[in-house]
Amino acid sequence: MSLEDCKFIDLPKILDPRGNLTFIEGCRHIPFEIRRVYHLYDVPGGAERGGHGHKHLEQFIIAMSGSFDVVLDDGYRKERFHMNRSYYGLYVCPMMWRVIDNFSSGAVCMVLASDYYDKSDYYRDYRQFLGAARQR
Ligand code: TYD
Repeated sequence: MSLEDCKFIDLPKILDPRGNLTFIEGCRHIPFEIRRVYHLYDVPGGAERGGHGHKHLEQFIIAMSGSFDVVLDDGYRKERFHMNRSYYGLYVCPMMWRVIDNFSSGAVCMVLASDYYDKSDYYRDYRQFLGAARQR
């Protein structure tokens, strides 16, 4: 798993004068079954979220409203992804250190996850993450 496996994915968009509609089906539009959904909101200006890596979890991140940046780091390389529309998202494979920052006011970050919340799936320490990421 490396940064090359993480990518923007365009979602289906049903344009309608009454308002547009986008949908996401697990294993069809994104490469995993969805077991959990959470969202970040009311993020104060200048705040950062994330700051961890996951051993096995896959995620798909969408800017439901407003904008923010996701910075991914596979232990060798870092890339910043700007998110500002709800009709595309960012696929994040396992073993990526991620930081989410540069939140606009009113931004809502929705995350679809491949598994239930599991504390033991996290790397919270960057040096530990780096050690594991570079062993692969
Ligand atoms: P964390 O994953 O560190 O948030 P972020 O990466 O967005 O900064 O989670 C923050 C807290 O919320 C932590 O105490 C764990 C808890 N939490 C859950 O209980 N369930 C969840 O699905 C998530 C994502 C977090």
